Amino acid sequence: MKVQIPRGVQDILPEQAGLWRAIESKAADICERYGYEEIRTPIFEYAEVFSRSVGDTTDIVQKEMYTFQDKGGRLLSLRPEGTAPVVRAYVENKRFGHPVQPAKFYYIGPMFRYERPQAGRYRQFVQFGVEALGSDDPAIDAEVISLAYRFYVEMGLKNLQLSINSLGDKESRKAYKEALIAHFKPRIGEFCEDCQNRLEKNPLRILDCKVDRDHPLMKESPVILDYLNGESKEFFDKVLRYLDQLQIPYTIDPHLVRGLDYYHHTTFEIMSTKEGFGAITSLCGGGRYNGLVEEFGGPSVPGIGFALSIERLIASLEAEGIRIPTEKQTDVFIVTQGEAAKDYSVLLLQQLRSLGLKADRDYMDRKMKAQLKAADRLNSKYAAIIGDSEMERQVVLLRKMDTGEQREIPMSRFAEEFQRVVGGGA
Ligand code: HAM
Repeated sequence: MKVQIPRGVQDILPEQAGLWRAIESKAADICERYGYEEIRTPIFEYAEVFSRSVGDTTDIVQKEMYTFQDKGGRLLSLRPEGTAPVVRAYVENKRFGHPVQPAKFYYIGPMFRYERPQAGRYRQFVQFGVEALGSDDPAIDAEVISLAYRFYVEMGLKNLQLSINSLGDKESRKAYKEALIAHFKPRIGEFCEDCQNRLEKNPLRILDCKVDRDHPLMKESPVILDYLNGESKEFFDKVLRYLDQLQIPYTIDPHLVRGLDYYHHTTFEIMSTKEGFGAITSLCGGGRYNGLVEEFGGPSVPGIGFALSIERLIASLEAEGIRIPTEKQTDVFIVTQGEAAKDYSVLLLQQLRSLGLKADRDYMDRKMKAQLKAADRLNSKYAAIIGDSEMERQVVLLRKMDTGEQREIPMSRFAEEFQRVVGGGA
């Protein structure tokens, strides 16, 4: 049987892993500058964690979750997103009582959705996300948005568009829901079965439907911004004012409702506007979720966050022709001839590596010339050559790979001396 990788997932081979690591470390770095601390939650949770928060009428919960029963009969799901688990952990660990407030978390890890795979859409993908819990200051909305935006800018992306909308508070959403029901009800028979079911339960989800997106009623649907009450309007205006102050350009998109149920007030997405980037242009999505902490049995604590996938970031870097330097270099490759030299290289490698140097040797029984080629392929700065004559005289011939310059160093002090050579850039 030929074993293949499942559809919608990918291997990250050593040639790409450097880029992933560089991106992940940049993400951690910007989070630390903004005062966000890392949190790691499990890959699977009780299915209920998502159905109750993301929403049981959403595509994610209805169609895309990897849900299974474990041997104890518990219903578990591979996490499709990171917000619900973070809020679950926040409540369970009573972080609302922690002295540092607001609680500002970030996470980087795999998420799972059973979606139709295509460019930029995977069944396992890695999200980098942040969640700030405990503040209803619109300035934190601006902070979260600016963190995501700055991250892309610092990665070098230029073709970005921030779309923003407000879903208002509970009262505004209720008024909007009623308007949507009144708008769609007379012609709901023309919509897909999912939408028909969503009409009374959650009409906002109709706006998100992939099947009926071109129905004329969609374009004429009421927009939430017309239903915001005074408080919600004021909140939204403040967020926009902060963004103006931070000189982050945005477009107000009154149709941006997002595919998850937990949002109130601010919602936003960052898109790539690069031509030829592909059909899936949304790089990052987020928003405010007042009410979610209560849903998990905690106190009334507001939250806001975003998530972006590393896969789509890499696709947009490629589309814009941006290369993140990840060049790996070996400091020294030991080239030997004969058994005695080979045996000695085992010890020498250990000495070099414990001094913090990147050192390697041949394990393929190659001739000396082929070993030097291997050193070249590994992009090694130096070769430490030990042939019969060097072994006899107890010296190592150190060759600088780019210039071919050579010198001899006694074996007894090779490791320390070499450390000085690379340290001093000689
Ligand atoms: P989301 O919009 O479902 O939001 O996903 C956020 C981001 O994850 C998307 O913008 C996209 O970059 C990436 N993404 C989603 N699905 C896939 C996929 N199948 N393949 C590759 N990338 C994908 C959330 O997940 C919310 N938890 C965001 C959030 C955090 N809201 C508040 N806090």
